[in-house]
Amino acid sequence: MRCSIIFFLLILVTLFEVVNGFMNLHEYNFTVAYAGNSTSVLLINNQFPGPTIRANLNDTIIVHVHNALHTMEEVTIHFHGILQQQTPQMDGVGFVTQMPIPNGRTFTHAFRANPAGTHMYHSHAGLQAVTVFGTIIIDDPLRRWEAAEIPSGPIMFSDHWEGVDRLEQEAGLLESPFKWEGEPSNLYMNGQRNFLLTLDPGEIYLLRLIGATSLSTIVFGITEHPMTVVEVDGKLVIPKPNITSIEIASGQRYAVLIETKSQYSGVFAMQAAIRWRVAAANSSCIGILRYGVQSSLSTNLTSLELPSLFNETELFLFAFRERYQTLLKSERMPPGHEGRADTEFILHTGQEYTPDGKGIRWLTNNATFDMLRLKNLTTSLLMDLYHGNEQNLPHDVVYTLEHDQLVDIVVQNTVALNGICESHPMHMHGHKFWIHSYGTGMYNAVHNIWPDRHDPVLRDSLMIYASSYAYYSPNRNVSNHRMPCGWTKLRMIANNPGLWMFHCHIGAHSFMGMNVLLKEDIENLSMIYLKQN
Ligand code: C2O
Ligand code: CU
Repeated sequence: MRCSIIFFLLILVTLFEVVNGFMNLHEYNFTVAYAGNSTSVLLINNQFPGPTIRANLNDTIIVHVHNALHTMEEVTIHFHGILQQQTPQMDGVGFVTQMPIPNGRTFTHAFRANPAGTHMYHSHAGLQAVTVFGTIIIDDPLRRWEAAEIPSGPIMFSDHWEGVDRLEQEAGLLESPFKWEGEPSNLYMNGQRNFLLTLDPGEIYLLRLIGATSLSTIVFGITEHPMTVVEVDGKLVIPKPNITSIEIASGQRYAVLIETKSQYSGVFAMQAAIRWRVAAANSSCIGILRYGVQSSLSTNLTSLELPSLFNETELFLFAFRERYQTLLKSERMPPGHEGRADTEFILHTGQEYTPDGKGIRWLTNNATFDMLRLKNLTTSLLMDLYHGNEQNLPHDVVYTLEHDQLVDIVVQNTVALNGICESHPMHMHGHKFWIHSYGTGMYNAVHNIWPDRHDPVLRDSLMIYASSYAYYSPNRNVSNHRMPCGWTKLRMIANNPGLWMFHCHIGAHSFMGMNVLLKEDIENLSMIYLKQN
């Protein structure tokens, strides 16, 4: 008996070696430290954005994250868009999937490069992600792009608060009285105000666009260069041509094709501007696309013709009517039983005062979940679950998914305390989901059964729009607090055991409690440690 078990184990080990022989290993060292003398800005390896992670599908990625901060601040890095199948302990959420990394310590992430596509990583602690982020690109060797990749890499959009201290922002958000972090003074493209993209004329390029903003939803366009969208959150979509401006919310990624004209020289404006919030004056960011290094840059950038960018109403109608559709048959949305999934959750989001009437929190079904609630834990919740211990779970924000269930999640938007309905970019860890349907006002479980398009896109970050009472609508009034103002239904398959965050990707909203946890198929939870050499 014992003998045969050992024999079996040996075969497994040998198989593992063989498989590993074909797999490439990509190893990165991330040192997180403060930039300059202040404790406001953190950087990875002193780079902004951080280093790019690139691998082939199913390769092994190793990232050693070292906390070199000289304070008590803790760090974790989340790999946004990576599924972490069988490695939920590598997801990078402090107290949930791992203990946060204290100063002087290193945490090593080892995970499979899966799925293919354009992803990102960022800090998952406090508001650190304002500056701690970078690109992940996973190439599928069986599906190479024919277009040329932009040599300077993706464009990462981020927002920037000039002269504002991040730690004070964090403190203010949870304080009584509440103190808003403020609107960003401006946007960046790859950490710059006047980002310069140099391309050759007469070529088709694949341009990756990454929403690494902490607060802003942006709209982006390039004058005279319409885009064809081919990839959404890393997933292939039926190519959507003639897009003159594209909405990119925090956490979202797109890959688009652009065709440069055959003229020898040229200089064009690229612009990113803020939507769905009252933007600070001059916060929009202008970059330059030029053909060849010969094209002389006009010293007066204001003379460049700017792209025409969609306003909120146009973006909203585009999302409702012009739905991106999944390209691959294997990635089509299951129809359910007479339209319905095995189970449906409705998450009512909303904003309320703290009991003293002065602080403000975001809630989901009347529970708020700021991560500080977990700060006294000594083991991660995931590790607890692995050992069958549920006593530390924040039960009011945990939703349980069973093995292989088809799950519908409806996120219901409501008007905030100031009478404004905000748009929320919701992100799910460990999963892709289909955008089943969108609606205005209040979700109706009896009527809103059928998807509003065939083969909706599979993605991991979606907007819950403000279908009414948005900041620009005239009918705003504080007495509308908690009025329903739009919803989105997503559909997913519970096929990835773990404990996964589902949250608003606006840093401040998440910090103020707009998070829930999906406790998924714990009976089949496994946490493997990939071989590192
Ligand atoms: Cu990109 Cu939980 O975040
Ligand atoms: Cu939000």
